[in-house]
Amino acid sequence: MTVSDCVTRLLAERALCPVNPSAQAFAPANIALVKYWGKRDEALRLPVTASLSLSLANRGTTTKISLLDSGYDRVILNGEVIAAAHPIMKRATAFLDYFRFDGDYHYQLDSTNTVPVGAGVASSASAFAAVVQALDQLFDWQLSPQKCSILARLGSGSACRSLWHGFVEWHCGEQVDGMDSYAEPLTDTWPQLCVGLLFLDKTMKAVSSSEGMRLTQRSSPFYTLWPQQVEEALIEVKTAIANKDFLTLGACAERNALAMHACMLTAQPPLLYSKAATVEAMEKIWQLRRDGLPLFFTQDAGANLKLLFLSQHYADVFAAFPTLELVQPFVKGDSL
Ligand code: PMV
Repeated sequence: MTVSDCVTRLLAERALCPVNPSAQAFAPANIALVKYWGKRDEALRLPVTASLSLSLANRGTTTKISLLDSGYDRVILNGEVIAAAHPIMKRATAFLDYFRFDGDYHYQLDSTNTVPVGAGVASSASAFAAVVQALDQLFDWQLSPQKCSILARLGSGSACRSLWHGFVEWHCGEQVDGMDSYAEPLTDTWPQLCVGLLFLDKTMKAVSSSEGMRLTQRSSPFYTLWPQQVEEALIEVKTAIANKDFLTLGACAERNALAMHACMLTAQPPLLYSKAATVEAMEKIWQLRRDGLPLFFTQDAGANLKLLFLSQHYADVFAAFPTLELVQPFVKGDSL
């Protein structure tokens, strides 16, 4: 099945002309506690495994979509018009191509991101999830969350998890058309759970996550072990969430991230997203843990770390990492 066929199927019986001149939506960024790394279908962005994430409350993307009669799309990101040749523009246009329909519509996307773009902080996840929700309003499709999740997945895999706050699981699915590969929120909440964003390098990464996945799947001898690691991690993390067992959750999330990076490191050529500052921060976290502080990290396709800890240890964590940006995924009125 092609991506266009998939979009046509999802939009069956929906009106394909916009009913509103513009629409706006927000989607939170998310960090995976059990990672998605590897596709079984490139075009449809179908994953090799399931994954589980935590959304970053008010950190994410707000996108206003409006119709343009210029014959081309325009993307404004944090107030700046993105040049036609920029990878962000190419990716946005390619996604919007699926939504031109008979009217050959063109769009302006005016987005504000509260996470750095392309630095392994899931900016593409919130960006595509926001666009899909804005499109849904623009056309008044009133799609189910499941269908929105599938549409967002077609833009960026991890975007299918960015439609909800809190813990979200992306079901791997088995069907070749990917209609059973969507995300769903878990009902569990955990008000004490904190994420600390440790920015060590805010520049755009040199190797995109899609390229990185391809390389790892193709050439790392460790990749064959990855699906099993994810399967075990998912069970362990879900049990830890249900039991509010932070030590198990933190240990398991950290191990899963390191296993993913071990696969990347053993690819040909090796893929290393960490910088010296990343390794230094990891060593500091491990030392603090040996000294009794329950503090863990996870790392995505970038040099930055996301620290995991409970609110009662906030002061100690901040004493060690004064530049940390705090996110409380379950505290309403604060971050939500
Ligand atoms: O959705 P993508 O193509 O940006 O891939 C995301 C990959 C990781 O962030 C490393 C892991 C994940 O599950 O979010």
